[in-house]
Amino acid sequence: MSAQQILKVFVTRRIPQEGINILQKAGLCNLSVWDSDEPVPRAELLKGVAGAHGILCLLSDKIDTEVLDAAGPNLKVISTLSVGFDHLAIDEIKKRGIRVGYTPDVLTDATAELTVALLLATARRLPEGVEEVKNGGWSTWKPLWLCGYGLSGSTVGVIGLGRIGLAIARRLKPFGVRRLLYTGRQPKPQAQEVDGEYVPLDTLVSESDFVVVSCSLTPDTQGLCDKTFFSKMKKTSIFINTSRGAVVNQEHLFEALNSGQIAAAGLDVTTPEPLPTTHPLLTLKNCVVLPHVGSAIYSTRGVMSELTANNLLAGLTGSEMPSELKM
Ligand code: NDP
Ligand code: DGY
Repeated sequence: MSAQQILKVFVTRRIPQEGINILQKAGLCNLSVWDSDEPVPRAELLKGVAGAHGILCLLSDKIDTEVLDAAGPNLKVISTLSVGFDHLAIDEIKKRGIRVGYTPDVLTDATAELTVALLLATARRLPEGVEEVKNGGWSTWKPLWLCGYGLSGSTVGVIGLGRIGLAIARRLKPFGVRRLLYTGRQPKPQAQEVDGEYVPLDTLVSESDFVVVSCSLTPDTQGLCDKTFFSKMKKTSIFINTSRGAVVNQEHLFEALNSGQIAAAGLDVTTPEPLPTTHPLLTLKNCVVLPHVGSAIYSTRGVMSELTANNLLAGLTGSEMPSELKM
C-alpha cells in the first residue's frame, strides 16, 4: 500500500494493547493515540480528528456535530469501546453515512457479575460493615446490627431485559428469587428461561423488592427513575443501576434514600462521572457508589479492545464488521 493510501485514525485514549496490536499489524492506518488514561480535552479531540478516516473512542467522548465537522468528509467509521452508544449523535452520524462499531456481548457476563456484586453489597450493607471493622464500631455480635435484605423468596424487577438484563436475571434466580418481573418495549421470548413476567413499569416498581436498571439510555429512559418512580417503591426495596447515570434523577434519589422512602441504592453509574466527592449521595450510608466498573475485568477489556479495533478496520476497508450498530 502506498503512503497516500494510509488512512488516518485517531484513538481518543490509551486502550488495552490487544487492540493497538491489531491496528498496527494491519498496516492500514496511521495511528494517532491520545496516550493518557485521562480523557482527551475537547480542543485536542477536535484537533486530533481533523481529516481522520476513523475514530476509536470511549463512552466519555461526546461525538457530536462539532466533532463530525472537525473530522470532515474523510470520516468512514466510529468505533466505540463500549456497548452503550448514548455518547454518539446517531442521527447525524447516520445522515453522513458513517458506520458505527460497538462491543455488545463480550462484556455481558462481566457487567452482570458486577451488578450482582453491587446488589449484594448494597442489600447486605457490606461497605458499612467493612468500615465498622476498621473504625472500631464492631463491639460485639449484636442481633439487630447491620441487618439488611436477602434475595431468597424475593421479587426482583429488571428494567430492560436485554443482553445484560437477562444475564443478571440468570445469575439472581439461583439465589431463590420467587418472582422475576421485567419491563421494556416489548415482551421477550428469552424471558421464559428465567420465568420472567412481563409487567408494566408501575407494577414492577411497586411489587419488586429489588429494582435493577439495565436498559439503554434513550430519550425515553432519560430521568425515568424520578420522584414518582421512587414514591411507588416499597420502603424496604433496594434500587440498583448499572446502565447509565442519566436514567436516574439523582436529586429525587437522594430524597428517597434520605427520607427512608426506599431502603438503599447501589449505583455503578452516575451523572456526572466522576461524581464530585462533595455530592450529597456520598453522605448517605444507604447508598453504595462505584466508579463505573461494570466491565472492568482484565480479559473483558482486552477482548473489548480487540473487537473495537476489528470493527474499526472493517469500517475502514468497507467490509463486514464483527459488531456493527444497526442505525
Ligand atoms: P441491550 O440493547 O441488549 O439492552 C437494552 C435494553 O434496554 C433492551 O432490553 C431494551 O428493551 C431496554 N429498553 C430500551 N428502552 C427502554 C424503555 N423505554 N424502558 C425499558 N427498557 C428499555 O443492551 P445491553 O444489555 O448490552 O446493555 C445495556 C446498557 O447497559 C448499555 O446501553 C449501557 O448503557 C449499560 N452498560 C453499562 C456497563 C457498566 O459498566 N456499568 C457495562 C455495559 C453496559 P427492548 O428490547 O424491549 O427495546
Ligand atoms: C459500556 O460498554 O457501555 C459500559 O458502560 C462500559 O463498559
